[in-house]
Amino acid sequence: MSTLDFSTKIASKRFSNPIFTASGCASSGQELSQFFQLSEIGAVVTKSIMTKARNGRITPRMAETPSGMLNSIGLQGPGIDVFLERDIPWLVENNAKVIVSIAGENVDEYGVLARRLRSVQGISAIEVNISCPNVENRGQVFACHPDTASAAIESVRRNIGGELPIIAKLSPDVTDIVEIARSVINAGVDGLALINTLLGMVIDLNTMQPKLGGKTGGLSGPAIRPVAVRAIYQVHQMFPNTPIVGMGGVSNGRDALELVLAGASAVSVGTATFGDPTAVIKIRDELQMLLLERGFNDFRDAIGFAHRASS
Ligand code: FUM
Repeated sequence: MSTLDFSTKIASKRFSNPIFTASGCASSGQELSQFFQLSEIGAVVTKSIMTKARNGRITPRMAETPSGMLNSIGLQGPGIDVFLERDIPWLVENNAKVIVSIAGENVDEYGVLARRLRSVQGISAIEVNISCPNVENRGQVFACHPDTASAAIESVRRNIGGELPIIAKLSPDVTDIVEIARSVINAGVDGLALINTLLGMVIDLNTMQPKLGGKTGGLSGPAIRPVAVRAIYQVHQMFPNTPIVGMGGVSNGRDALELVLAGASAVSVGTATFGDPTAVIKIRDELQMLLLERGFNDFRDAIGFAHRASS
């Protein structure tokens, strides 16, 4: 029987398999660890952490949409002090590979967070979330403009030191995602996370008001998968040597394979976890099977295969 090398690399870091959690959908992994060992997945990507504890937006914060979900959490979290004291040691104890997601209210805060994380043991990479749609001020969606996107990354790059890879998480809510990718690559990222949620809104026909307390929210789930595939394909085509962690509506192995063929070196699973906490494990196993069925012996040969086949 043929075997598959299922490992993947993001910059200098190796992961045993390419299926990760998506930031914000599994907190720091504690809840998921009731269902499987966190070491069985490629990496846990933590909820984006900020400099201070934050309550997030007013409720309601979730709404269902056709084949999707709208969330308006507002970066709720314990803040970096508690995270470093409580969550990182727990993840390390549980043998998880950890990618820490960070978010700042301004460019300097990204640097502060990078400095706090630079010498912490047990972290494989930093995801710089510059694309959260659920902030009061749209100017804080740094990924919507190349200058603000690169300023946030430069702040991290100046402060991170060492060898921790930096992954910039980008927004699909832009005219040209390749231009934003170029700006953060020039600013020194080692990888990209594509895509964050799309800004959306649902209006309740009974109250005739927006359903979410914060009015708008980020759309995720199967409805956005074609947008993710398109963004990954476009960016991989232009920057084939920059690893991409792909995400957006992946709920089975076939969906994950689609993102890989478009150019993703790893795939994060988010919304599917709410319906089935073991989704990451099932998707990992299905992807492995699909790759073997297609004759791959090395996962990395499948990355961006759609480009090779169509050119
Ligand atoms: O509202 C939130 O906490 C979502 C964050 C994100 O999508 O980056």
